[in-house]
Amino acid sequence: MSIRLAFAIAMMSAACGNDHGVVAPSSPVGDVPAFDQRTGDPANGWRALIEEGYVGCGVPLTAYRKVFNQQIPASYRLPERTGANAELPYNMTAFTTASGVEVVTPNCLQCHAQHLEGQLVIGLGNHTSDFTQDVGFLANAAGGLVEGDAERAEWQRWRDRMVAIAPHTITRTIGVNPADNLAAVLFAHRDVDTLAWSDEPLMPLPPQIVVPVDVPPWWHMQKKHAMFYVGAGRGDHARIMMTASTLCVDTVEEARQIDAYFPDVRSFLLTLKAPAYPHEIDAARAAAGKTVFEASCARCHGTYGESETYPNTIIALDEVGTDRTLAQGAGQFAARYLNWFNASFFGELSHLAPAPGYIAPPLDGIWATAPYLHNGSVPTLRALLDSTTRPKFFRRSPGAYDRDAVGWRFTALASATPPPGADANEVYDTTQLGYGNGGHTFGDALAPADRDALIEYLKTL
Ligand code: HEC
Ligand code: HEC
Repeated sequence: MSIRLAFAIAMMSAACGNDHGVVAPSSPVGDVPAFDQRTGDPANGWRALIEEGYVGCGVPLTAYRKVFNQQIPASYRLPERTGANAELPYNMTAFTTASGVEVVTPNCLQCHAQHLEGQLVIGLGNHTSDFTQDVGFLANAAGGLVEGDAERAEWQRWRDRMVAIAPHTITRTIGVNPADNLAAVLFAHRDVDTLAWSDEPLMPLPPQIVVPVDVPPWWHMQKKHAMFYVGAGRGDHARIMMTASTLCVDTVEEARQIDAYFPDVRSFLLTLKAPAYPHEIDAARAAAGKTVFEASCARCHGTYGESETYPNTIIALDEVGTDRTLAQGAGQFAARYLNWFNASFFGELSHLAPAPGYIAPPLDGIWATAPYLHNGSVPTLRALLDSTTRPKFFRRSPGAYDRDAVGWRFTALASATPPPGADANEVYDTTQLGYGNGGHTFGDALAPADRDALIEYLKTL
C-alpha cells in the first residue's frame, strides 16, 4: 500500500473514531431516559464555579501579574469576588495549590460565558474565543517569569499539560471550540485506575484535526436528560461536568474532593434562565409563527409558553442530515476514550454513550445562541430555516447582531480565501471536515410569510 493511501486511510479511520476491534459504548437514537441526579446548593455552586481550583493547576499568580497587570474593565469583573479574584476577569480563577502557591487558571466561564449586546451572559456558550493558535510556546515562555522552586514546580506541572494538549486543540476558525478533543488528550495521558498523569500517552492520541463544536448554553440542562450534542453524557451529570479537572487533578482522592461540591455547581447551572430578546417583537406576527412552529417544529423541539413540553429525543443522522463527523465518533467520542471514561472514577456514577445522531435541542433563548447547529456552521436563523441561503464560505462581522435574520451579521465569500484585511482563521469554510452546513432542511418548504412569522416567534422563546 502506498504511504499516501495508508495515511489517507489512517486519517479517515481516525476521523471516524474507528478503533479497530474495540466495541464503542453507544446509545440508540430516539427518546433519552431521565437519570437520577444528585442535588445541591446553587449558591455554593456559583461560589465554587468562580473561586475553587477544580482545574487543579495554573500559572503562578506572580508570573501572571508580570504580563497582565492592567486594570480589567468592570464588565469583565465579578463584583462578588474577593482577594486576587476580584482583580481577575470573570473567566479566570486564582486559587492556592496544595504546595502553597497561588496560581491562576481559566475556569468554566472561559467557554461558558459571553458578552452579548453589552451584557455578560453567564452560561451562554463562548462563540468568539480563538483556539486557532498553538499555545504551547506561551506556556513555555511563562517559565521565564516564575521565581523559586515551589513556583517553578507548579509552572512545570501546568506547562506539561498545556504542551500535551496544544497541538490537538487547534481549530481552523475563530469561534468554534475544541473541548471534545481536549478531553480525549487528557484521558489518553491518565492512568484509568489512579488518574495519575503520564507524560507519555497511554493510548493513541486523537488526530490533530479538531472537529469543531459550538458551545451550547447551560440553560439547556434544565430540560436535557443527557449532556452533549450526541447525547453521550448519561447518568450523573455533576460527575461528567467535573471532567474539566482532568487537566491537572492527578489522584482519585483529590477528584473526590472536587466531586463533593459539583452537585452544587450543577444545581447552580439549573437556575440559569435564557435571556429575553431585548428588542421589539411584533406580537401578532409572533402569534402566527407559533402556529407554524407547532405544526412543523414542536414534535422534535417541544412546546414553549404556558404548557412546556420537551421530547428529549435524538434524531438519526439520516433524518437530520447535518454534518456527520461529530456523531460518527470524533475526538472524545472515539471508542478508546469512551471506554477509559466509563472504567475510570468518572464512570462510577456516569457514563459516556453517544448515539448516532444529534439531540433536538431546547430552543429557549435561541435568539442569543447564534451561530447555529452543533458546529456553528449557520450564522442566522433565517439561513437555518432556508438551507438554499446558507453561505458556503463566510466571515462574521464581530459584535454585529442582525435583528432581521436573527443571529450574526456576516459577509458571504466566493471562496475560502480571506477578503483583504482578514486572516484565514476568520473565514468559516463549510467544505472542511466537520464544518459542513448541510441538513436540517425542515424550514425549506415554508412559505416566505410563514418563515418570517416563525422567526418572529422564535425571538419570544
Ligand atoms: C475549553 C472549553 C470548555 C470548558 C473550559 C468547559 N466546557 Fe463545558 N462544554 C464545552 C463544549 C464545547 C461543550 C459541548 C460539547 C459537545 O456537546 O460535544 C460543553 C458542554 C457542556 C455541558 C453540556 C451542555 C449540553 O447542552 O449538553 C455542560 C453542562 C458543561 N459543558 C459544563 C461545564 C462546566 C461545569 C465546566 C467547568 C467545570 C465546563 N463545562 C468547562 C466547552 C467547555
Ligand atoms: C425531525 C426533528 C426536527 C424537526 C422537525 C426540526 N428540528 Fe430543529 N433541530 C433538530 C436537531 C436534531 C437539531 C440539531 C442538529 C445539529 O446540531 O446538527 C436541530 C437544530 C435546530 C436549531 C439550532 C439550535 C442551536 O442551538 O444551534 C434550530 C434553531 C432549530 N433546530 C429550529 C427548528 C425549527 C424552527 C423547526 C421547524 C421549522 C425545526 N427546527 C424542525 C431536529 C429537528
